[in-house]
Amino acid sequence: MNVRIAPSILSADFAKLAEAVALAERAGADLIHVDVMDGHFVPNLTIGPPVVAALRRATRLPIDVHLMVENPRFFIPLFHEAGADWISLHVEATAHLHKDLTMIRGLGRKAGVALNPGTPAHALDEILGELDYVLVMSVDPGWGGQAFIPSCLGKIRDLRDRIRARKLEIPIEVDGGLKLDNVGEVIEAGMEIVVAGSAVFEAPDPAGAIRELKRIAAGYNR
Ligand code: DX5
Ligand code: ZN
Repeated sequence: MNVRIAPSILSADFAKLAEAVALAERAGADLIHVDVMDGHFVPNLTIGPPVVAALRRATRLPIDVHLMVENPRFFIPLFHEAGADWISLHVEATAHLHKDLTMIRGLGRKAGVALNPGTPAHALDEILGELDYVLVMSVDPGWGGQAFIPSCLGKIRDLRDRIRARKLEIPIEVDGGLKLDNVGEVIEAGMEIVVAGSAVFEAPDPAGAIRELKRIAAGYNR
């Protein structure tokens, strides 16, 4: 297991996104995490397919699109065409999880499911076999810069145990409130993909913050 780092551009300067992804790539990031919010599922409005298409031209890294939207099925083809490599949707946002994940995989993209802090790990029991990754929200989605919710640690362990019990290899991505000083314990709980927004792009030295996250993560590689 190699722990991967996915800087979230939500905390970057939106007027300089090409610079932000180039910096992340040079510093050793593994994925670029893009937060899509629709003003309905969460009360904030962020990035749409044209911005993802522009990012696609600006980086070779896989683009990890986190859909915080109602009716995700409508948006999946649009983000696929824009060049998203990984697409996750919220279990709370769709009544047709299996159908939507099948659509993502049918388009040749990695399919993920995101869980809000109030949603238990067992919500994924029937769908684990159809997933490429799980995204555990460790803050209530909507904004960067919030504090990590400690009870999410137990859920990450629970999810890791359920994945192992089924002999599946599904990485757990964790998103929200991750900082240099708490990332170690979350990796120990089972996180394999670290989303970090404010810890990277609000740091005085964003590239240095990515390198430091990589250094910490490398201590857990096996
Ligand atoms: C929040 C987003 C996150 C956000 C994390 O709804 O899904 O990806 O960028 O920001 P930090 O790392 O600052 O908590
Ligand atoms: Zn996110």
